[in-house]
Amino acid sequence: MTYTFDQYKESADSIRRRIGAFCPKVAMILGSGLGFLGDVVEDPVCVSYRDIPHFKASTAPGHKGQLVFGTLEGRPVAVMQGRMHHYEGYSYEEVSYAVRVLRLLGCDTLIVTNAAGCVNTAWQAGDLMLITDQIKIFMESPLRGENLPEFGVRFPDSSHLYTPALQDLARQSAGELGIDLKEGVYMYFPGPQYETPAEVRFARIAGADAVGMSTAPEVIVAGHCGMQVLGFTLCSNMAAGILDQPLSEQEVLDAAEACKEKFSRLVLACLKKLS
Ligand code: HPA
Repeated sequence: MTYTFDQYKESADSIRRRIGAFCPKVAMILGSGLGFLGDVVEDPVCVSYRDIPHFKASTAPGHKGQLVFGTLEGRPVAVMQGRMHHYEGYSYEEVSYAVRVLRLLGCDTLIVTNAAGCVNTAWQAGDLMLITDQIKIFMESPLRGENLPEFGVRFPDSSHLYTPALQDLARQSAGELGIDLKEGVYMYFPGPQYETPAEVRFARIAGADAVGMSTAPEVIVAGHCGMQVLGFTLCSNMAAGILDQPLSEQEVLDAAEACKEKFSRLVLACLKKLS
């Protein structure tokens, strides 16, 4: 299925009726562990995905499935508490649908976070990584199908999907907070099975530092429609085959819980610095 511009507009108009004159500038898609930031938004207006035309439900554990509009660190934000994933059965277009809707509502910046497996053996579980670039190859693009020129060009440049100036801002924030922020490349795998050890070796050879099942489709769409992007990965576990132990969802959730204080301080500090 290919969505039309009118459908994106219909979703945006329906949200607009709920939020009135409020104009969000920063869209935030929060992965495992950071969804709680949606709960600390000031003067919140919550809109359930169920109540927005053309929106899909978010079924992943720990994902609430609502948009929270309000202010965080003085910035007008739209926080997605719960994202859609391809492994839930959604197309890449469906997975990234909300990004375009938030763009229509006025957001010009996207902050994305996720939990992922750590491929870089010099790092350890619990490390935070600033995403400097991503790999999503051999798979369909969320931009496949008719181009909607209202959002962007047919063949968008992807040289700086993660905005260099926002990366600088993150490095500066991490330095001020005394947080050891790694940086590297996020490689997308569709899941839901975790990668095999051979796939993790492949990812490492390809230049990846972390592997995960989200983020890349939304960032492609954000880049297409001219948004600035800032992305962080919580390395929740060493990727498959590095340690002699099986991977589990519980390990990911436990790591997210253990790191959420550090992670949220960093994200909020960056948000505060956004002009
Ligand atoms: N692989 C893919 N996605 C993940 C992982 C992983 O090891 N950990 C958390 N999300």
